[in-house]
Amino acid sequence: MGSGLLILLQLYFLFVSFSTFALGLQKFHVVDVHALTSRNVCSGPKEVESHMSVKPKLKIVDRHGPCSTLPDVEKLSLEQILSKDQTRVESIHRGTSAVSGKDKTSGPLTTSQITAQYGGSYGVGNYIVSVGIGTPSKTLTLVLDTGSDVTWVQCEPCQKHCYVQQEPIFDPSQSSTFANVSCSSTQCTGISFGCSGSSCLYGVKYGDESFTVGYYAEDTLTLTPDVIQNFRFGCGQNNNGTFGKVAGLLGLSPSSESFVSQTSDKYQRVFSYCLPALSSSIGYLNFGSSSNMPNTNRTPIPKHSNPPYYYINMTGLTVADQPLQITSTVFSNAGMIIDSGTVITRLPPDAYQALSSAFRQNMTQYKMAPSIALFDTCYDFTGYDNVTIPSVGIQFLNNVSLDLDPNGILYVFDISQVCLAFAGNSNPSDLGIYGNVQQRTFNVVYDVPNGEIGFSPEAC
Ligand SMILES: *[C@@H]1O[C@H](CO)[C@@H](O)[C@H](O)[C@H]1NC(C)=O
Ligand SMILES: *[C@@H]1O[C@H](CO)[C@@H](O)[C@H](O)[C@H]1NC(C)=O
Ligand SMILES: *[C@@H]1O[C@H](CO)[C@@H](O)[C@H](O)[C@H]1NC(C)=O
Ligand SMILES: *[C@@H]1O[C@H](CO)[C@@H](O)[C@H](O)[C@H]1NC(C)=O
Ligand SMILES: *[C@@H]1O[C@H](CO)[C@@H](O)[C@H](O)[C@H]1NC(C)=O
Ligand SMILES: *[C@@H]1O[C@H](CO)[C@@H](O)[C@H](O)[C@H]1NC(C)=O
Repeated sequence: MGSGLLILLQLYFLFVSFSTFALGLQKFHVVDVHALTSRNVCSGPKEVESHMSVKPKLKIVDRHGPCSTLPDVEKLSLEQILSKDQTRVESIHRGTSAVSGKDKTSGPLTTSQITAQYGGSYGVGNYIVSVGIGTPSKTLTLVLDTGSDVTWVQCEPCQKHCYVQQEPIFDPSQSSTFANVSCSSTQCTGISFGCSGSSCLYGVKYGDESFTVGYYAEDTLTLTPDVIQNFRFGCGQNNNGTFGKVAGLLGLSPSSESFVSQTSDKYQRVFSYCLPALSSSIGYLNFGSSSNMPNTNRTPIPKHSNPPYYYINMTGLTVADQPLQITSTVFSNAGMIIDSGTVITRLPPDAYQALSSAFRQNMTQYKMAPSIALFDTCYDFTGYDNVTIPSVGIQFLNNVSLDLDPNGILYVFDISQVCLAFAGNSNPSDLGIYGNVQQRTFNVVYDVPNGEIGFSPEAC
């Protein structure tokens, strides 16, 4: 038994409570669709476990939800959000194979100089955290991204362009601890596409043509009560795109210049987060050994992973607790990453077909609704007080099995169009992506030194 909350972004918030029952060996959820209510107030954090409150813990909120400290200027529809999600996915698919060319004729701080897609992707299903930068410390709200290496913020004097952000733009001249990273340093060699005088240039261009370009710098980063000296980040002098009003991005990839790698002495390259199920509630981001929770099921991070992503081995799917017949090479040929910034999980086409077909078999009593956005398995629940849906389970290597609650199974446009919240890749060799709808409410721990990703349910 349990109760779950199902997300609806922007204007409508659909509240769905549910109970679970078994029919022989098969498991189902009864989802209450009657309790429709507008949820545009921030409900705040769930009580957190006391053992986790000792280390710095950043609050995570949905950029588009009522807990956000930033006004939602974009007002995107669900279709727009999913269309941008597809752009991110295509950029990840491209980024795992190629880097683009370099135009030597243009001056510094132009996007044509960006040769590598260090972040490679940017989406709108974004979760944000607030950190302090500089001395004295200035609070800046950043998007967290496990698929990005370089952390960056917009930086005065904004030589070419800064988009409008909520907090004052970071001004290096007001910080006593700010310094530039020298062009000859090894840290610069790792990320840069070039130098301007002695300044190390960085640049990231995202799949939707958003970009940031500037100087690589270092300053004190504060995650109260912890202070990280000489943290390296991009000081963006030319920035534009669909960033909303955030000040920049916090890079949590396994690559060498990410926050995770730079703070390895302090946090041992271990972090965890819980993404809130509702855009009106609060999750957390935690670093160091306290990221580990009891009852965590751990799956190995496969060797030969390509930076900047965290790879994971999916091995199977269940519907109503019944394993689907999917050849294991369907998963291993494609490979898969787990990504905080992709909204909807993308499966290899054969795995998606098996999931969709089993789900449909269990849903024959309901009228199907037209396909929409990424989804082709949708239902019209008009007139029902509650509906019975099969449980959906995800298996990863080492016998790790996640039993999704209904908010990881259904994506609701409105009551007449509720869809299975998964999508298939078009090409069997395209990388699978484990997205954030299916991660919500789990404590997801990334333990890089032990080469493991762990999950524990009902963490926020
Ligand atoms: C850092 O480098 C930029 C670009 O060369 C320059 O404008 C700025 O004054 C430098 N800042 C410091 C503190 O050296
Ligand atoms: C920034 O991007 C928007 C579109 O996203 C465009 O209309 C605008 O001209 C750009 N501004 C600059 C200075 O490049
Ligand atoms: C795990 O994933 C890696 C990388 O995608 C792949 O090379 C390997 O074959 C997978 N292993 C298993 C057991 O599926
Ligand atoms: C639900 O789907 C599973 C997997 O395809 C199947 O084994 C089971 O018979 C279905 N149950 C019902 C009640 O349709
Ligand atoms: C589902 O709704 C029906 C009436 O439509 C009601 O009788 C039943 O108790 C409900 N079941 C649950 C589990 O809420
Ligand atoms: C896998 O986990 C299930 C329960 O989650 C357990 O019954 C089974 O014995 C485990 N298998 C192995 C090989 O550990």
